[in-house]
Amino acid sequence: MTRIGFVGAGAVARRHADTLRRLGDVDIVGVTDPDESRARAFGRACGARVHAGHAGLAASGVDALYICVPPYAHGPAEFAAVEAGVPFFVEKPLATDLRTAEEIAERVAEAGLATATGYHWRYLDTVRVARELLAGREAGLVHCYWLDRVAPPWWWVDRALSGGQVVEQATHVLDLARLLLGEVEHAYAAAVRHAGNAFATRIDDATVATLRFASGAIGTLASTCLLPCKHRAGLQVFADGLALDISESELVTHAGEDLRHLPADQQAAKTRADRAFIDAVQGRAADIRAPYAEALRTHRLGCAIAASVAEGRPVTLEEEP
Ligand SMILES: NC(=O)c1ccc[n+]([C@@H]2O[C@H](COP(=O)([O-])OP(=O)(O)OC[C@H]3O[C@@H](n4cnc5c(N)ncnc54)[C@H](O)[C@@H]3O)[C@@H](O)[C@H]2O)c1
Repeated sequence: MTRIGFVGAGAVARRHADTLRRLGDVDIVGVTDPDESRARAFGRACGARVHAGHAGLAASGVDALYICVPPYAHGPAEFAAVEAGVPFFVEKPLATDLRTAEEIAERVAEAGLATATGYHWRYLDTVRVARELLAGREAGLVHCYWLDRVAPPWWWVDRALSGGQVVEQATHVLDLARLLLGEVEHAYAAAVRHAGNAFATRIDDATVATLRFASGAIGTLASTCLLPCKHRAGLQVFADGLALDISESELVTHAGEDLRHLPADQQAAKTRADRAFIDAVQGRAADIRAPYAEALRTHRLGCAIAASVAEGRPVTLEEEP
């Protein structure tokens, strides 16, 4: 049995724990969360020991950690995992800022640690179909969108704690845009914030960005959290003779007169993401599609869009050293 410890016992931790317990070869043995009642409830549900902090948990003999903390809390748990030589799965976004994630990436690379991240859209069967359809075609345009409500966690509405909607949430569709069209070189973005909006948020209510890809393709991102419920989240890709509309629940393909709807299985994608990480921890060939270094490239794009909004000018994404 593979022994897993959880840093963070909130909503997404509970989701991963449910999935891991269904895999059949995983024991959830430890948990830590500053919210002690949450930690205790999680511990009871999983039969896991409650630890006072991430350092004790990382050093307790676990085979791997799941780091499921809010964006503002990243850093210490990842460093403790590196220190203890323990592989980790970490939820997106990697941090609220770029510097923290870059430091973690450096330490992970030095240690040669196995990592995986919560970009589970990459595991949708429909994304595989989209990649096959795009192979050998020139994709010229992508529209990314995340048009939703304010997310429930208390920290989400404060940019200093969540990073804002683009960094925190639209990162999933930016990640797929990178997967399908390659790296973005330039981003130019603007945002609007109504001081008197119904939710009294300290994040932007809506953001638009234009993107220029290294391939020459162009793209847009539109996000808003002004709605009472999720309207839609996904991306539309336009290539030679082909339009694709990709969401977490469906792929629509439109080639010539041929219009098709393919349902997507979100739960299967989430399970595959967890299975791949456990395979890596067990030393087997593992289908990890977004290790930390890859997720960092997506985080860099989200942060570039946020920086463009803050500075009111186009931002060039630095090439990796
Ligand atoms: N991949 C996905 O689809 C997906 C879905 C939901 C959430 N998430 C991500 O997961 C992260 C957590 O989201 P959530 O909905 O579980 O939030 P949450 O607020 O429900 O849970 C976070 C938990 O982390 C705990 N915590 C805070 N600081 C900590 C620390 N230093 N050490 C240990 N625990 C700490 C909090 O007390 C809380 O219990 C967010 O970044 C979110 O974007 C990803």
